[in-house]
Amino acid sequence: AKNVGILAVDIYFPPTCIQQEALEAHDGASKGKYTIGLGQDCMAFCTEVEDVISMSLTAVTSLLEKYGIDPKQIGRLEVGSETVIDKSKSIKTFLMQIFEKCGNTDIEGVDSTNACYGGTAALFNCVNWVESSSWDGRYGLVVCTDSAVYAEGPARPTGGAAAIAILIGPDAPISFESKFRGSHMAHAYDFYKPNLASEYPVVDGKLSQTCYLMALDSCYKQLCKKYEKLEGKQFSLSDADYVVFHSPYNKLVQKSFARLLYNDFLRNASSVDEVAKEKLGPFSALSGDESYQSRDLEKVTQQLAKPLYDAKVQPTTLIPKQVGNMYTASLYAAFASLLHNKHTTLAGQRVIMFSYGSGLSATMFSLKLNEGQHPFSLSNIASVMDVGKKLESRHEFPPEKFVETMKLMEHRYGAKDFVTSKDCSLLSPGTYYLTEVDSMYRRFYAKK
Ligand code: ACO
Repeated sequence: AKNVGILAVDIYFPPTCIQQEALEAHDGASKGKYTIGLGQDCMAFCTEVEDVISMSLTAVTSLLEKYGIDPKQIGRLEVGSETVIDKSKSIKTFLMQIFEKCGNTDIEGVDSTNACYGGTAALFNCVNWVESSSWDGRYGLVVCTDSAVYAEGPARPTGGAAAIAILIGPDAPISFESKFRGSHMAHAYDFYKPNLASEYPVVDGKLSQTCYLMALDSCYKQLCKKYEKLEGKQFSLSDADYVVFHSPYNKLVQKSFARLLYNDFLRNASSVDEVAKEKLGPFSALSGDESYQSRDLEKVTQQLAKPLYDAKVQPTTLIPKQVGNMYTASLYAAFASLLHNKHTTLAGQRVIMFSYGSGLSATMFSLKLNEGQHPFSLSNIASVMDVGKKLESRHEFPPEKFVETMKLMEHRYGAKDFVTSKDCSLLSPGTYYLTEVDSMYRRFYAKK
């Protein structure tokens, strides 16, 4: 198979959300901390009728319907998630309900888990399958689904929730430049979920920021090295039309892009002009450690990177700023934002993607875009996703109601023998919702 990659995408996020400005005031944080300091506008969350399974049922059903895909045409289904509902039974098996109905049980793949990286692992599995000798000619389907919730405290505003479904096959409008790829994997305790009775992670916020930036540097170096070896010329930010980041919160994305410019400076790359070189001169002798700690470097690089950030990154930030961290779906929601904003001008362009999952695992990889053919065209993907309408038709909760919802969800996590309110009045038609968890922990869903 040639030009294997992404044929179609659909995204779902809960219609229930809270404005960061309201949360900020409610939490007693200083004004601007969440909106300017973290760079976030709004945060989506699941109420008691939604979870990672219902969201992924919604996303998959919607993708199949809107692109006219017969469920029998799916040969591999992979799920990336870090929201554990069951320690044995995969989310993928819940999604099989959609395919069993159509007589298709011949579908490989299960779930992949490592913090926010599981979606990328699932994606690579599907792409590799289509490129391999075990491919049977059918499509691969990747689902990233997470509900990101934190205990009360500084991490709470960095939550979010979404599911994204991605169809994989040959002759794709979004194909992988698989040779241009760099990974960084290491052992770290920056963010992990050792308490199996709680949905909340244990998180060392500061360490997670440094781990993220170190992984970014390392992946970028690897990607540059491989590009240079294969192409016989240097890689720099000038060779990327857009850079898409895993987005826990927007400020980290701003810092990350600036960090890539600093990397280009240290490599004496063509993307760095004379003015920038002069301003960065004083920082050329910093050790790696010093460079992660230097507030001055952070400030100068962010200033210098601003015009490039506006051109190459800003169009990718819409959904992450409006919905929050969607863990495994975050990177792909950022990419969906780019498709939404720029689909008319993306043909021929290269997009660099950076995936990070705490613990830690990270990969930077490259995508090449072309317009494609209906229904698998960039313009159709943008119109199917209908991001603008989904964002507009949301319902804002006041902070008190949000906190109340979080408390209820804490009780419900890992619980059995309850029925939900079954109140689906806020959900749009076609959305799946949780109705009951019985005395055997079996979960039941309905479709609005
Ligand atoms: N107006 C404007 N900016 C403000 C204000 C204000 N009133 N108050 C604070 N700020 C700025 C700070 O200066 C800081 O920005 P800077 O880093 O550019 O200086 C920013 O707001 C955040 O403030 P901090 O005091 O650093 O925030 P805190 O430490 O309380 O929490 C953190 C932030 C660590 C990100 C926390 O939300 C967290 O732990 N989140 C989860 C972990 C996470 O997402 N890690 C990212 C990678 S791992 C992953 O994807 C899960």
